[in-house]
Amino acid sequence: MVMRVLLGDVSSQPTRVGPLMSSEFLLASTYRSIVAEPRLDTAHQSWDRGWGQAETRANWTQPEQAVTELIPALTQRGVRRVLDVGTGIGRHALAFARAGFEVIAVDASATGLAELRRAADAEGLRVDTELAAFTALPIDDASIDHVLAWNVLYHGDAEVVRTAFEECARVLRPGGTAQLTMLSKRHRAFAIGREIRPDTFVDDASTGDKDHPHFYVDATTLTAMLSDAQLEARSVIDIDQQPPGGFHWTVLVEAAPTDVGGCRGD
Ligand SMILES: C[S@@+](CC[C@H](N)C(=O)[O-])C[C@H]1O[C@@H](n2cnc3c(N)ncnc32)[C@H](O)[C@@H]1O
Repeated sequence: MVMRVLLGDVSSQPTRVGPLMSSEFLLASTYRSIVAEPRLDTAHQSWDRGWGQAETRANWTQPEQAVTELIPALTQRGVRRVLDVGTGIGRHALAFARAGFEVIAVDASATGLAELRRAADAEGLRVDTELAAFTALPIDDASIDHVLAWNVLYHGDAEVVRTAFEECARVLRPGGTAQLTMLSKRHRAFAIGREIRPDTFVDDASTGDKDHPHFYVDATTLTAMLSDAQLEARSVIDIDQQPPGGFHWTVLVEAAPTDVGGCRGD
């Protein structure tokens, strides 16, 4: 398996959690994202530490049922190239590879990607990994059939999320599909801590990643933001992830324009 590093500086601003390893950040001039300064898409720093710990990894090994149950419908639609954005240690990238898809996995955590490569090699699976920010995907336009971004794209503020949605739309072929989750305003952590931007909170007391900016949204705003990015919502469901109170929107979208059926499992 080959790991290509096409990463811009996803965290050029110093933060109190310390700088990322310089080896992670090459070719900063390639960074294409236009987001508000100071940078708010910094949560990968927390995840990079977490992915180095066995107890964190143990909680993220089993693929979500909502993801795997979509695989037959994706196969039926002729999906070949799948992009897993914010793959972590790659539980879904591995599931897609096992299902026979061509898989590209992107994350800003070098540690997570290393774990994914180790697991893929152990199973003899091919997964291409890219160290990159979700606001600057190192992927060609209209080259992906299906994007997954599970518990990823809300790490920032509304501007970061808008850029991330635009990136998903850019890389999807017309009629391509995406499955995304976003933090719901029903989530137990909504409005906890400092509101540093509208609906964007930093909880300085958090022992997890919530000491980095997280963006929370309601259904009306979410569907409008998706629509602005030329992503048409096919399904928007507020699901209570574990532990209880962990409400996330689980969203299926289709990249416009298309004249074929949506991602409905039919
Ligand atoms: C909650 S984990 C989810 C991992 C994976 N999607 C899963 O479901 O197993 C969030 C992941 O998003 C990544 N991430 C956070 N901010 C990011 C950014 N700006 N660009 C790329 N990846 C990011 C983190 O490094 C982490 O691996």
